[in-house]
Amino acid sequence: MKELGTNSAITSCFYRNIRESGFRYEEVNIGDITFKPGQNESVHRWYRLTPSYSPGLVRYLIQELAVTKDSFVLDPFCGRGTTIIECQKLGIPALGIEINPLLQQVSDRSLLWETGHLKLFGDYIAELDCLLNEHQKDSIDSVLLKFNARLPLIHNVFRWWKPDVLKNLIICRELSLLGKYSSISNYLWLAVNKAALDCANIHRNHPTITFDDNHQRNIDVYFEVSENLKTISKDLESLSDEEICNSRLNSVLLGNSTRNLEELLKRSVGLVITSPPYPNRYSYVHQTRPQLHFMDLLENIRQATEIDLNAIGGTWGRATSILQNELIEVPAEIRPYLSYYDELKDRSVLMCNYATKYFIDLWRHIKALKRCVSNDFKGAYVVGNSRLSGVEIFTEAIFGKICEREGFRVEKIISFRKRGGRQRLYETAVCIKRQK
Ligand SMILES: C[S@@+](CC[C@H](N)C(=O)[O-])C[C@H]1O[C@@H](n2cnc3c(N)ncnc32)[C@H](O)[C@@H]1O
Repeated sequence: MKELGTNSAITSCFYRNIRESGFRYEEVNIGDITFKPGQNESVHRWYRLTPSYSPGLVRYLIQELAVTKDSFVLDPFCGRGTTIIECQKLGIPALGIEINPLLQQVSDRSLLWETGHLKLFGDYIAELDCLLNEHQKDSIDSVLLKFNARLPLIHNVFRWWKPDVLKNLIICRELSLLGKYSSISNYLWLAVNKAALDCANIHRNHPTITFDDNHQRNIDVYFEVSENLKTISKDLESLSDEEICNSRLNSVLLGNSTRNLEELLKRSVGLVITSPPYPNRYSYVHQTRPQLHFMDLLENIRQATEIDLNAIGGTWGRATSILQNELIEVPAEIRPYLSYYDELKDRSVLMCNYATKYFIDLWRHIKALKRCVSNDFKGAYVVGNSRLSGVEIFTEAIFGKICEREGFRVEKIISFRKRGGRQRLYETAVCIKRQK
């Protein structure tokens, strides 16, 4: 563990800013904290969300905050559920909140660990094989008619999925909804959902999605779905009896953590382990759009942009257009902390507004949290700094100051890694306590 001051890169802006902020700083190396290690861990690998953190980071923070089975952990920005899943494995009661209905469903459904009906997986796969063969020559329209289903409401749907691929995905989904599979419907949902993304004509280059229009890849829906089910089945069988007993100990609610948390939680919070979005223009809604539509989680086409507008760091469609023109009003209470402001407002009104809205939303969250924390509250917020129009956004220091303003004490800032290669971007945990 390194203390600030012994680092040879002390001259970089990041270190200088941390030093000037006066917060205690440590560097630790716990290996890869990105989504990648989770892809080799049971349950975590049932969905791939590239901005998620690693289960190992959650285990580290659980130790750091001295969390026990008697604790109650909140993850107000739950994503694909890494915190909540890891807590459940360890028997620690936890609750997640997530604004994106797709991610809320993925994380909540990943918490059911039952091994009683695994035989049905084989029945589903066999029936799926027959059904896909039976409809091999049919058009997508006749399949939609047969299952009384509709095309996903996404714009330009056949750019996302080739008609035959979409037809087969619809067959997988509709078969999974039959009553005879209700005891494994959760797992079927997860398997089909993952396949819907993996079978789309896209490249997922973090942080964007690009269409892969003229690819010659052979997309085999049956293979994808059955492989996903095999992984789920293998993972369920690998869980210990103790872990299986923890099934459904935890859950994830659909909600907005910048609003009234008291109403949502109806209890006090002793611990937070979380990672809000970073101010890097990544849109979770945009990234999950194909599945939001394919899994029928949106009522209409406009709903996706509305969610992005309410999400922290949302950047897609109207979330960007409303920030384009004039500088938004900055609350006087937090203005002194926004170290990027003077420089960024002259370079880009849009980027300056984007960053300011981001910190206003984090501030709203902290104010909402303040109303429900217990006297011994401790929290770890994993945040990333960024650079907008060439101006450094020191998320950790700004967020730390916002927390202090609202009566929390910043215990320390722990840095885990430098990201973005030579771009000198950092990921840190801002560790806070309730000020006594
Ligand atoms: C960095 S990701 C969290 C990833 C998570 N730690 C994991 O490992 O999967 C941030 C999440 O916050 C969610 N989010 C953004 N604004 C929110 C809000 N106002 N209320 C609740 N969740 C929100 C996003 O949809 C996204 O899933």
